Amino acid sequence: SPPTPLKHYLQFSDLNADDYAYLFERAALIKKKFKAYERHQPLIDRTMVMIFEKASTRTRVSFEAGMYQLGGTVVNLTTEGSQLGRAEPIEDSAKVISRMVDLVMIRTFEQTKINRFAEHSRVPVINGLTNEFHPCQILADIFTYIEHRGSIQGKTVAWVGDGNNMANTWLQASEILGFKVHLSTPGGYEVDQSIAGIRSSESYQVFKDPMQACAGADLVTTDVWTSMGYEAENEARKKAFADWCVDSEMMRAAKPDALFMHCLPAHRGEEVEAEVIDGPQSVVWDEAENRMHVQKALMEFLLLGRL
Ligand code: CP
Ligand code: NVA
Repeated sequence: SPPTPLKHYLQFSDLNADDYAYLFERAALIKKKFKAYERHQPLIDRTMVMIFEKASTRTRVSFEAGMYQLGGTVVNLTTEGSQLGRAEPIEDSAKVISRMVDLVMIRTFEQTKINRFAEHSRVPVINGLTNEFHPCQILADIFTYIEHRGSIQGKTVAWVGDGNNMANTWLQASEILGFKVHLSTPGGYEVDQSIAGIRSSESYQVFKDPMQACAGADLVTTDVWTSMGYEAENEARKKAFADWCVDSEMMRAAKPDALFMHCLPAHRGEEVEAEVIDGPQSVVWDEAENRMHVQKALMEFLLLGRL
């Protein structure tokens, strides 16, 4: 059985700086073993259900491959393929599913939905993206930053684009891990501090001009203009976001050794120029691969605690 009290990973603030230090160290060890083709199977006989109410490539592959590598198995559910799409209450689904498996990963719309599931679950629940947050992605991004540049403490992350789930999660992380976020979003698409739920505005600064947000940054990052679930706003967003495309000029404004990250999928010529995402400062492929390594550390941690 999982350690008591039951730990969920519903948002980045569910863990503290100490937990993250452990997870980053553990992920590095797990990655090293993977690269050496060395078995690491602490989760033999454990099963995870993954519920996808939105599309996915990376989250699906990284969690599924990761769980198999840890010795466990997964069961995949989608909205349409399960009773979730036929209005079975989320609370009932949580009670049923969590009696049969050891761990649940959910990708869905409102954060309240995953919160309600977790409240009625007997086993740990992991957020694989909601409208509000994407904690597993930021876990991978910061691990990737550390691999390339060392500690992120005291560094500056420039966020160029939508005040979305990724931006909210960066804000939470900045408060916990002690770095700065420079935010530049078009009017009407600002980050809402109350959604991020952070205590103060000390860890971030807002800039109208994306160039200014990038000035002196250690990491420049962006995301799609239209997130999943917001497709109806696509045309309006294309107009509003036209000046929020990360280009080489923005990268030149950042520190000479600045990294570029994007959680992917990317749209070259929209939120990022091809020469940036395919250029020497981009670490997007490491970032994607690292989803698997950090999530293996996370699954192990939620089920077995610190080892
Ligand atoms: N970055 C990310 O979560 O990708 P997928 O939507 O492909 O899972
Ligand atoms: N902000 C994007 C991230 C996709 C991985 C979305 O929610 O669609």
